[in-house]
Amino acid sequence: MARTTPVRAVGFGGNPKGDADMNQDGGRMAKMELASILDKVRSLTMVPRDSLVDLAYQVQVILARNIPGAFVECGVWCGGASFLMAAMLRQAGVLDRKVWLFDSFEGMPPPQPIDGPAAQAWAKTPEKPWYSERVPISLDITSA
Ligand SMILES: C[S@@+](CC[C@H](N)C(=O)[O-])C[C@H]1O[C@@H](n2cnc3c(N)ncnc32)[C@H](O)[C@@H]1O
Repeated sequence: MARTTPVRAVGFGGNPKGDADMNQDGGRMAKMELASILDKVRSLTMVPRDSLVDLAYQVQVILARNIPGAFVECGVWCGGASFLMAAMLRQAGVLDRKVWLFDSFEGMPPPQPIDGPAAQAWAKTPEKPWYSERVPISLDITSA
């Protein structure tokens, strides 16, 4: 039977996925450290807190299992989720991995015919302007 590699848990109340192969020894991020990172990125991401905690866990698993490569976020808005990943790497003393942020940095393009009539109608709905108003973001913010 195949065995999974034990991984280290982040120290904010255990593995949010409840995996059975987690071990709790060493290398854990203190609750306060993660809370501090979450506070810093909070206003720069739409991602819910629980999902950010899960993202932090995923970064820890990747590092614990020595899975090589860069970290990439496609569609970053203000960059908060990417900043969390970068902060996790910095916290772990990992300096040789890049975090790449991809976005139009101009917001969503208008729907095209291929997107269908529902998308066209939604884009014209006056009571739902929040998305088009919130999503455009300047590169200045993500490079701050
Ligand atoms: C829902 S927001 C992403 C939220 C972000 N992950 C966060 O942490 O809050 C979607 C992002 O994807 C970008 N986006 C959407 N369609 C795109 C496209 N076709 N090309 C490039 N960027 C795109 C938008 O500019 C926007 O910043």
